[in-house]
Amino acid sequence: MSTDAKPLHEENRLAWNAATAAHNSHKADQATFFREGGSTLYPEERELLGDVAGRTLVHLQCNAGQDTLSLARLGAVVTGVDISDAAIAFARRLSAESGIPATFERLDLYDWFAQARREGRRFDLAFSSYGAIFWLSDLRAWAEGIAAVLRPGGRFALVEFHPFAMTFEEDWTHKYPYFGEGRARSYESGIGDYVALSGPALAPSGWREGARDFRNPHPGHEWPWGLGEVVQALLDAGLLLTALREYPYANGCKQFRDMRELPGGRMVPPESVPSLPLMYGLAARKP
Ligand SMILES: C[S@@+](CC[C@H](N)C(=O)[O-])C[C@H]1O[C@@H](n2cnc3c(N)ncnc32)[C@H](O)[C@@H]1O
Repeated sequence: MSTDAKPLHEENRLAWNAATAAHNSHKADQATFFREGGSTLYPEERELLGDVAGRTLVHLQCNAGQDTLSLARLGAVVTGVDISDAAIAFARRLSAESGIPATFERLDLYDWFAQARREGRRFDLAFSSYGAIFWLSDLRAWAEGIAAVLRPGGRFALVEFHPFAMTFEEDWTHKYPYFGEGRARSYESGIGDYVALSGPALAPSGWREGARDFRNPHPGHEWPWGLGEVVQALLDAGLLLTALREYPYANGCKQFRDMRELPGGRMVPPESVPSLPLMYGLAARKP
C-alpha cells in the first residue's frame, strides 16, 4: 500500500464504523440466530470454498463476522480480519454470545498481511466476499499477501459484486467509467445504509426498523478494479485459477432501483433492463 493511500483507508475505517452500527441496527437477535444453527452464507461461496471442515481459514474483510461464524459452524477454524473497530467489536461479541469460537483481528489488511508474513502464519483457506475488493488501494500487494499466507495446496475463494455493474447509477443509467486506472474514487456521502434499502434479504435473523435516514458523516474512498485486474493480480502472485464464474444476480443486496427478488435472496434487474453480470466468483490454488 502506498503511504498516500493510508489516510484514505483511515477515513474508510471511520465510515465503516458508522455504517456497521447502522447495518446491525436492522438485524434482530443475531446471537440466537447463530445459536440455533443459522447461517448467512450463500450457495455460491459454499461451492467455491468446497469443504471447510477441519481447515484453518482466514476471512479477509470480515466486517461484523456473520459469515466468519457461519464458516466456523461448518467446522472451519476461523480468523476474521477487518479494519473497522465497530465491526470487530461486534464480531467478538457475537462469537461470545453465540458460543461459536472464532478469532477476530482488527487491522488494515495490508498491515495484517505484513504482520502475518513476519510471523510465518499459514492458512488452508482464504476467503473474501461481497463488497471487499473496491476498498483495496493496491491489488498486487493484496494478491501477494494472500499467496504468502496460504500453505502450499491452500485455496482462495472470492465472491464479489461485479465491477461492470458498478458503472451504473442507482437508476440504471450508465454513468461511471469501468477502468479506474488504480486511482481512488472518493465521495462525501461515505457508505450508506444498504441494509435498510435491501430489507429482510440482508437480515436473515429477522428484520427491525433500526436506524432511520442514516447519513454517514465520513467520506468513502473506493478503487474500482476491473475483473481482469483482479484475476491478473492473483496469477502474477503465483496462484492458479481453478474457477471463474459470472452471475446475472446479486445475493442479498438491492443496489439498484426496482430490483426484483428471486428465491434465495437473488436480486435481479427489473424486466425493462437487459441482463448483465451483477456478481462474480473465483477460486484459486497455491501450487
Ligand atoms: C461490505 S464489507 C464486507 C462484508 C463481508 N463480506 C461480510 O462477511 O459481512 C467490506 C469490509 O471491508 C472492510 N475494509 C475496508 N477497507 C479495509 C482495509 N484497508 N483493511 C481491512 N478491512 C477493510 C470494511 O471495514 C468492511 O467491513
